[in-house]
Amino acid sequence: MINIPKGTKDVLPKDSYKWGKVRQVAEKLANLYNMHEVITPTFEHTELFVRSDGEGSDVVSKEMYTFLDKGERSITLKPEGTAGVARCFIENGLFNETLPLKMYYITPCFRYERPQNGRLREHHQFGVEIYGANTISSDVEAISIAMDFYKSFGVEPIVAINSIGCADCRREYINRLVDYVSKRIDHMCPDCVRRLKVNPFRILDCKVPECKEQLKDAPVISDCLCDKCKSHYSDIKKMLTSLNIKYKEDPNLVRGLDYYTDLVFEFTDATGQCPGALGGGGRYNNLVESLGGKSTPVVGFGIGIERLLLYLDSINKPIEDTNTLDVYVASMTTDECYVMHLCKKLRERGISCDTDLMMRSIKAQFKYADKINAKFVVTIGEEEVAENKVTVKDMRNGTQIKIWTNDLYEYIIKNR
Ligand code: HAM
Repeated sequence: MINIPKGTKDVLPKDSYKWGKVRQVAEKLANLYNMHEVITPTFEHTELFVRSDGEGSDVVSKEMYTFLDKGERSITLKPEGTAGVARCFIENGLFNETLPLKMYYITPCFRYERPQNGRLREHHQFGVEIYGANTISSDVEAISIAMDFYKSFGVEPIVAINSIGCADCRREYINRLVDYVSKRIDHMCPDCVRRLKVNPFRILDCKVPECKEQLKDAPVISDCLCDKCKSHYSDIKKMLTSLNIKYKEDPNLVRGLDYYTDLVFEFTDATGQCPGALGGGGRYNNLVESLGGKSTPVVGFGIGIERLLLYLDSINKPIEDTNTLDVYVASMTTDECYVMHLCKKLRERGISCDTDLMMRSIKAQFKYADKINAKFVVTIGEEEVAENKVTVKDMRNGTQIKIWTNDLYEYIIKNR
């Protein structure tokens, strides 16, 4: 037997309604916030991710699914959604549209990581990117959309926030960081030695315990913020408070991708049950220009769908399947044509229905209808066919009536 590749997951038919619900919630939010869906390819030219996410990032240096296609082009399965949307924005001249342009996506992402609980090699993200606004309200709106998304599933995570400042603040910070790390680099991992040369900021992402220990007194970026960045960040916090969005400041939060500027944020669960972040994002005002587009400020986030579903299960709040079948037609007649015809008429009237395709006994058919929580069982035997009537049982309260077949549709619509 051929098994599923390591770090990937099947979504079984009994669970796929949860993904339907995620899509439904995303569409509802799109409507509420005036966002539109953007769909970009699953793979892009490798260079797009190298230039966007940063050569020193773990995603680019260790985790990308990269291969040469038959035309010898280096192709990468997208490890995240932001870079593809930026490419799409530039290539399709979306800067000519009325800005801000609010886009969302649900996309698979591929990262060659060591699989563990909540960490997959293929995961999916619900992401939002707000193009063209460089305001406090757009920063807060991004966080607010994510919060509303979580609330639709009955949870309210904590949002950790930080400002990584403008290019000047980061230059000053990196000088201090390099100074600090250089004195300790002999006790740090080979990756950090490389990061120190290529991209010192990424040293802060290191998960090796010895490196973490060395970094525990490292300078924090908040100490290097210029007055403008400080005041911007302070206004963001005021607006979050006024909108009743609970946040906590995390001066060590820098996020693992290179494109961020100014505000960064991450969603974690208050109970500490969820392994890793539930979602994260931030502002990135230089990415579009660095990819060859017109300078455009953007803020956005990505939420891991598998992680959310896992988290909901772990806190005993799984998404309920509320979409139950209206009618199960239990057949005791040899006239299969009659039964199929009735099902066709029910479906034409927008009534969901199913019937036995396996020649099972009437007892087994009722048992199945009960198992799938069908609202009504409509029984058709030889007698019903002859009389042009049906027996309808309301499975929720056990009441049973016999009615004309022609009256069935209205009866179900009224009582379902
Ligand atoms: P990220 O933090 O790398 O950001 O990923 C966003 C979320 O995707 C994570 O918080 C987590 O829930 C989920 N995730 C990431 N990697 C995995 C994995 N291996 N297995 C399962 N879930 C995972 C980004 O990707 C940015 N593009 C977000 C963004 C959008 N920033 C601005 N706009």
